[in-house]
Amino acid sequence: MSDTNVRPVDMQRITGKEQAEQFIESQIEALRNQIGDGKVLLALSGGVDSSVTAALLIKAIGSRLVCVHVNHGLLRKGEPEQVIKVFRDQMKAELIYVDAVDRFLDKLAGVKDPEQKRHIIGKEFIDVFAEEAAKLSGIKFLAQGTIYPDILESKDGIKAHHNVGGLPPELSFELVEPVKLLYKDEVRVVGEALGLPRGMVYRQPFPGPGLGVRCTGAITRDRLEAVRESDAILREEFEKAGLAGKVWQYFTTVPDYRSTGIKDGKRTWEWPVIIRAVNTRDAVTATVPELPFNLLQHITARITSEVKGVNRVLWDLTPKPTATIEWE
Ligand code: XMP
Repeated sequence: MSDTNVRPVDMQRITGKEQAEQFIESQIEALRNQIGDGKVLLALSGGVDSSVTAALLIKAIGSRLVCVHVNHGLLRKGEPEQVIKVFRDQMKAELIYVDAVDRFLDKLAGVKDPEQKRHIIGKEFIDVFAEEAAKLSGIKFLAQGTIYPDILESKDGIKAHHNVGGLPPELSFELVEPVKLLYKDEVRVVGEALGLPRGMVYRQPFPGPGLGVRCTGAITRDRLEAVRESDAILREEFEKAGLAGKVWQYFTTVPDYRSTGIKDGKRTWEWPVIIRAVNTRDAVTATVPELPFNLLQHITARITSEVKGVNRVLWDLTPKPTATIEWE
């Protein structure tokens, strides 16, 4: 039997609408064959891969796909709302929205070490998802947005397959992975052909631990809000300036220390916001692109006047190496 985790040598790269539609049609048939009249569970983060996987399954099996969207409180501004709008309201998906914000933030309270924060976020996510799965009955399949680089990297031992495993053994599902032979650019083309919004399909990479690694040290709700609000301003201004899609990744970080400032003639003791914008091919090394100075000044003015608790804006000019892309 051929290895279903190997991309056939004669498989054409999906670059346009027609190829995407052919792929969608063949996948719908394959999914229906695999799933029969069964039910499928999917953790829908709102990222490209899980969103395209969800959209394909909705086409194939409709409401027999059950999506679970866990809001861990570390998502960007507007993201949970967009997932609900696109999947529940527009695509009529069966979507369970889990507000786990307090649960995650309570577990993270006082935790300073970045790796420990990642571990807590990862474990809590699996626990929440497993609890939701246990509430449902008769589900045999688990869908995942595994893509081809995930398979290649786990084969090469570069990283543990982040999409596979992690779930408790009593939840023994058969996997459904409709985009596992596709590269990222192909997943995006398929996503567009499925009618997903461009902002969702072409969104920049976002780490699993989300804003949690951009609110350095021990996360507090007020500083997390400053990360979320400043990130939203940065994204809005990059979009307006035509930089979205041209700069590979851009975001803000709010470190856990303060500096003196002055507002309305009064001394302040508030956080700085750090702007990070990088270009890279593979995230292994990265460069810092030149940004228009007036844009940086405008963003600074908006952040310092609109974001609570912030009196200063810095721009991180460091390539990778020596810095990593994220601050934690
Ligand atoms: P670094 O900071 O290592 O980031 O230069 C490289 C790329 O990986 C993303 N990143 C993560 N993604 N879980 C993820 O899913 C993580 O814990 C994590 N840490 C960093 C980062 O955003 C960048 O795109």
